[in-house]
Amino acid sequence: MRYLFFVVLILGCATPEPPQSVDIVVDDFGLYDQRGDFHTLYEHADASAIVLFVQGNGCPIVRNGVHALNAIRDEYAPKGVQFFMLNANLQDDRESIRQEADAFSIDYPILVDETQLVAESLDLRRTAEALVIDPKTWRVRYRGPIDDRLHYEAQKPSASAHHLADALRAHLAGRDVARSAIASPGCLIALPGKDEARHKRISYAREVAPILQRKCVPCHQPGGVAPFDMTDYKEVAGWSPMMREVVRTRRMPPWHADPHVGTFGNDLSLTVRETQTLVHWIEAGAPRGEGGDPLAETPTQATTWAYGEPDLVIPLERQEIPATGIVDYRYLKLKVPIDRDVWVRGTEFLPGNRAAMHHALMRVIYPKSHKMKTAKNRWLDGIFAVYVPGMDGVMLPEGTARLLPVGSKIQFQVHYTTTGRAEVDESKLGLYFTDSQNLRENIVVGPANTKIKIPPHAHAHRDSSVKVFEKDVTLYGLFPHMHFRGAGFRYVAHYPDGSRETLLSVPNYTFNWQRFYTLSTPKFLPGGTRVVSHAVFDNSAKNKLNPDPSATVRWGEQSFDEMLIGYMSMTEGRGKQLFSAVDE
Ligand code: HEC
Repeated sequence: MRYLFFVVLILGCATPEPPQSVDIVVDDFGLYDQRGDFHTLYEHADASAIVLFVQGNGCPIVRNGVHALNAIRDEYAPKGVQFFMLNANLQDDRESIRQEADAFSIDYPILVDETQLVAESLDLRRTAEALVIDPKTWRVRYRGPIDDRLHYEAQKPSASAHHLADALRAHLAGRDVARSAIASPGCLIALPGKDEARHKRISYAREVAPILQRKCVPCHQPGGVAPFDMTDYKEVAGWSPMMREVVRTRRMPPWHADPHVGTFGNDLSLTVRETQTLVHWIEAGAPRGEGGDPLAETPTQATTWAYGEPDLVIPLERQEIPATGIVDYRYLKLKVPIDRDVWVRGTEFLPGNRAAMHHALMRVIYPKSHKMKTAKNRWLDGIFAVYVPGMDGVMLPEGTARLLPVGSKIQFQVHYTTTGRAEVDESKLGLYFTDSQNLRENIVVGPANTKIKIPPHAHAHRDSSVKVFEKDVTLYGLFPHMHFRGAGFRYVAHYPDGSRETLLSVPNYTFNWQRFYTLSTPKFLPGGTRVVSHAVFDNSAKNKLNPDPSATVRWGEQSFDEMLIGYMSMTEGRGKQLFSAVDE
């Protein structure tokens, strides 16, 4: 009876056609899986082979193929073969894929190809196809079914041909794969975006340039942090293959928060549609098309204050940076030239030399007479302002401000990177004041774990820090901080009623992009809430930033030491009146 039922089910899929071509070099891509972990293909360059099995919810051939795939994984994963599934179905999403995986005991990372760009470039037609990719050449060595057991017409009790295992065995032995392309039964995948004629008509002037202006030009402009400027069509067309690569791998725009967790006011990332438009346009040869050139017509320059002339500018002493080597953190202390207490509603750090300035933290040294509410630790609590590339200015949420009492000093912790030539830097801090009444003091707390100890070569070492809020607070922003070994970071709020919520997940943390994530809607945390910052460190050689995988790494200020700090910007109490101000 069950057998019959199965036959009827799989009859719903069409008959196979000639095999898909193996003449493909697989370009790198970056995708989130069903659990929210982030993977790139090329990070598995040291695998002996990569198997990509095309999954789709509800497809009987996929569901029935999992056991055979498991058996192959049991044999070949110990031989260095990396296994993934890939779901490119329009109708499936992360949640439904997770449910399908639970229901059918699928424990592979299922890469969710939301833009369908990977499916298009691999020329996928049907689910249940397995691809074997050679990480030495990134060529497809085999594509086709796992074996010959499953067909539309019937399901055999056992397979007589073991295509995938044969292909892996041949590949690992350095032999040619005898049958490298076999038509594969499975369920057709709808790929409505795959329309090359349409891609040639994507308008540079109307569709592409506005995306670049919104999402790239803020950094890719003269005086900006990025190494090249998107100043006209010609510049963009020349960089377009590289743009395709960084967009497909999610290296650019530099925004590393999982898009399915929380919403952030300063979100830089491309939407699914924007990604498709850009990549399709580039794949069509970046056609110039009709219309003006918005990038050339409205040139921008990033040398001035993003929020206008500040109320007070504090210049830093000129700094000289050597051509190479590691520069110790520099500490500069400057008196704030004010003659009354002021409330600061925003700050902007204007680096004099964006190439050399890695980051700067600014902390207030309060006059003895001032009682500070929260600051306990020199750098961890009470951070006043942060500069990281791409985030020059910060305006605090409406109705909140940081108090700067007369007599305060600001201490700067400045971190320079060497660029290959001697550099000088003359940076400035700009402060924006407010005279508003009824302001709430906006403070930054930085729960840290200074006891971290990361063993040599550990690929995924986990540790955490905890902050318990005794009283009600309102959260505005989150700023995970680790160093070179930082690989992932997650903030989880545990509420007094026992429920919990992930506030931010950064599964592919990169030290080079320290970022303050501003919550779109401030988050009220009732007294008793515990916020746990979960960090993952990668001290293996796979981590390209890792200066020394053989080191046992402990807490320390230099980048080759580690930190684990879950900074949060907040006010005490319920920011009731603030919600309306922010929502407006
Ligand atoms: C927050 C600032 C910022 C934004 C926004 C940004 N970039 Fe970049 N971009 C950079 C920096 C900095 C580098 C240099 C990175 C490095 O050297 O590691 C860079 C490098 C690049 C490169 C060269 C390749 C590389 O990895 O070095 C390309 C191509 C690129 N960006 C494309 C884009 C595109 C396309 C967008 C928009 C969709 C974008 N960037 C948005 C800052 C930015």
